[in-house]
Amino acid sequence: MNIDIIKNNLDEILKYKTPVYVYLYDVLKDRCAKMKSFKDTLEKEIDKKVSIHYSTKANNNPQIIKIVKESGLKVDAMSPLELDIDLKCGFKNDEIIYVCNNIDKEEMKLIREKNILPCFDSISQVKIWGSLFKNTDIMVRINPGIKGVGHNKKVITSGKKTKFGISEENIKELKEVVEKYQLNIVGTHLHLGSLFLNDSIDKYIKGVKEYLKIVKNNFENIKIIDLGGGFGVPYQDEEPLDFNILIEKLKKILMKFNKGYESVEEYKFEPGRFIPCESGLIVGKVNSIKSVMGKNYIGTDIGMNILVRPSMYDAYHKVSIINKKEGKEKIIANITGNICESGDVLARDRTIQKPEIDDIVIVENSGAYGFSMSSNYTGRPRPAEIMIKNGKIEEIRVRESLEYLEKNLLF
Ligand SMILES: Cc1ncc(COP(=O)(O)O)c(C=O)c1O
Repeated sequence: MNIDIIKNNLDEILKYKTPVYVYLYDVLKDRCAKMKSFKDTLEKEIDKKVSIHYSTKANNNPQIIKIVKESGLKVDAMSPLELDIDLKCGFKNDEIIYVCNNIDKEEMKLIREKNILPCFDSISQVKIWGSLFKNTDIMVRINPGIKGVGHNKKVITSGKKTKFGISEENIKELKEVVEKYQLNIVGTHLHLGSLFLNDSIDKYIKGVKEYLKIVKNNFENIKIIDLGGGFGVPYQDEEPLDFNILIEKLKKILMKFNKGYESVEEYKFEPGRFIPCESGLIVGKVNSIKSVMGKNYIGTDIGMNILVRPSMYDAYHKVSIINKKEGKEKIIANITGNICESGDVLARDRTIQKPEIDDIVIVENSGAYGFSMSSNYTGRPRPAEIMIKNGKIEEIRVRESLEYLEKNLLF
């Protein structure tokens, strides 16, 4: 079990101070292999090329990206830094797609300079690109109009209530812009939202169907059909996503689509979370214990600056305490961070081992949207990241120092 690996390596881990992000190499490799197998199986089933582009935003640590690369996967980038990391990790320009969201001309020039295929989210962005780079290939993101999938309303990215994509009613205008600048729409893109499990596969498939219908009715000669990310992982004790079921359902609709739409050459997927999430844990420590008006609080050094998902999305993460005395007594408590905000709560009303000061706290499933969403809020440094590989610990990101944080300050 992941927690046991942490316990067995605790003395070494604590040399990096708390909080610290710890990644388990074997778990990461396993999830990459699962994605590769999903790609290979679907490819055989539908007789078309399938590419998996790991969404760098989930975790951009180069040592993680390199494992993604050596596993035979590709990447998507959404910012100059992500693009630079992907390129430095050895991805070639045609193994990267750039998923744009309201970017400026400077960023467009960078993408063009690196010869990366851009995917645009609005007609106005296509217009700007066209005025800069006539006669080039682009992808466009479609909003199929029906509500997408996701663990929280903030991560549902299709339907009437999101900022994403171009809707069917605007495709006529899109085509006029494309014609004016002689652009070539080689691909279309869909991302319905983040985190679906088995109970939402049908919802995901419904969104895909609607999207394919829009592509078929409005575009000719599309070569790349991107079906986005969203592959979920169990944060509590849900059933893991059953890729056999997903493949079976995708196979049916994609085979049908292939028959009626012959130009399609490749299907792409953009899983982010699925790859690093379960390999990552945060190790922190208990700084305070108190009871206020009948409620127990365990104050830790894992604040919303270290892991924002619980305060941002009300996300659930398993939290455990390693108690020096191995006591069996349990309490119900809110586990909080060390940031001066009432929303700085890691877990609410959890039944947990009664802690003592300096006990160790472990937060599971923190490998995706953990470090990549961390911040320096209240001026705290972002932690080190380490990886346990073949029983040995490698530091893969150095903890930020006060000097680093003050580097750009003008006193
Ligand atoms: C366009 C796009 N693709 C892929 C992803 C990855 O999603 P997930 O981590 O849920 O697989 C995201 C994440 O929000 C995204 O915005």
